[in-house]
Amino acid sequence: MYRLIYKSRSRLPIDWDFIHELIGSSGEKNEDKGITGILLASRSHFLQVLEGDFDEVNRLFLRIARDERHDEVQLISFNCVESRLFGGWSMHAVGIFEFKEGLVSDLIERYGEEEGSVRFPVEDWKVLAMISDLRVG
Ligand SMILES: Cc1cc2nc3c(=O)[nH]c(=O)nc-3n(C[C@H](O)[C@H](O)[C@H](O)COP(=O)(O)O)c2cc1C
Repeated sequence: MYRLIYKSRSRLPIDWDFIHELIGSSGEKNEDKGITGILLASRSHFLQVLEGDFDEVNRLFLRIARDERHDEVQLISFNCVESRLFGGWSMHAVGIFEFKEGLVSDLIERYGEEEGSVRFPVEDWKVLAMISDLRVG
């Protein structure tokens, strides 16, 4: 079992319409390939965790990285892991941009700010800490 985490910058401001357009049929596609994961979205950045077989995760990441709707794709980690963290979700999107102001300012205090929202970390342990703070893991 492998887990890959990357961060990227959206070419357009992110809202739910854009997310739904991006990941339209991702849920079914990921399910077919045994891939699970989570997609965090601020107004400007994505942070995605993908879990599954090495080849499937690798192939999907390369496809996503070529997607022209985002750029500045930064691979954070690609590790062999004991088990899935997001076994229940073939693709679960979390829109940080719609969180209450108080929650966002707590996150900004902890993780820093980027383009008016919380800065997604580039250290995998910090990513997992943030996901745990969001209570979506
Ligand atoms: C931030 C982001 C996350 C994405 N996540 C997934 C995903 O988890 N699974 C997936 O199949 N496609 C995902 N996509 C879409 C792929 O890049 C691609 O458009 C889609 O898989 C269709 O590819 P195809 O046209 O080559 O079949 C994502 C795109 C972006 C920009």
